[in-house]
Amino acid sequence: MASRTEKGYDFFAPVYEFAEGPFEYLYFRDLRRDLLDRVYGSVLEVGVGTGRNLPFYPSDVEVTAIDFSGNMIKRARRKAVDMGISNVSFVRMDARDMGFECNSFDIVFSTFVFCACSDPVSAVEEMVRVCKPGGRVFLLEHVASGGLLANVFVSVINPFMKTFLDEDLKKRFGEKLEERGFNVVKKEDVLGSHIKFIELRKF
Ligand SMILES: C[S@@+](CC[C@H](N)C(=O)[O-])C[C@H]1O[C@@H](n2cnc3c(N)ncnc32)[C@H](O)[C@@H]1O
Repeated sequence: MASRTEKGYDFFAPVYEFAEGPFEYLYFRDLRRDLLDRVYGSVLEVGVGTGRNLPFYPSDVEVTAIDFSGNMIKRARRKAVDMGISNVSFVRMDARDMGFECNSFDIVFSTFVFCACSDPVSAVEEMVRVCKPGGRVFLLEHVASGGLLANVFVSVINPFMKTFLDEDLKKRFGEKLEERGFNVVKKEDVLGSHIKFIELRKF
């Protein structure tokens, strides 16, 4: 049965880019560009959404992009066609139970997905499972922030996010990854600690 998050994203897909547009152009675009500068070889994007990262995929990589919302991934697929991007294939799939073989990808990454995922640790376990030994997992995620302004803003929109998308922008995602046995090689605060960049390396 479809989760509240999946149904919510199916419903909000037509307005997703409009709603996050101001943040996209002020902040997120540069973060996406920086992250995508680091990818190589065979790449898996988890929770591709409407395809906000597509413009930054290098042309010499092979990308597989998944999302469990049919309406979000439909938009990403259309964007790839419109932009003439041919090095990406889209699969509708749940990040917590991926149908890929172990050790399939050089790079596995997500941007802004785990505030909207009810069991993020299972999803990260899956991301590490499908990553090749020596490969990397990159996570760029919203987390609870210490900043006053960001905190006030997030407190205002969080009840809406929780109700309609089962999403929590104040998640403490990333804090316990080491305790759970993940090989965290980098953790950086971005935008006054409201966003975290995390890099895992697969043994
Ligand atoms: C906030 S949007 C981010 C979309 C895109 N990554 C971006 O940076 O704009 C979160 C996306 O993650 C997807 N998502 C959340 N949980 C998922 C899961 N368990 N499996 C697959 N997709 C998931 C949602 O459907 C939605 O498209």
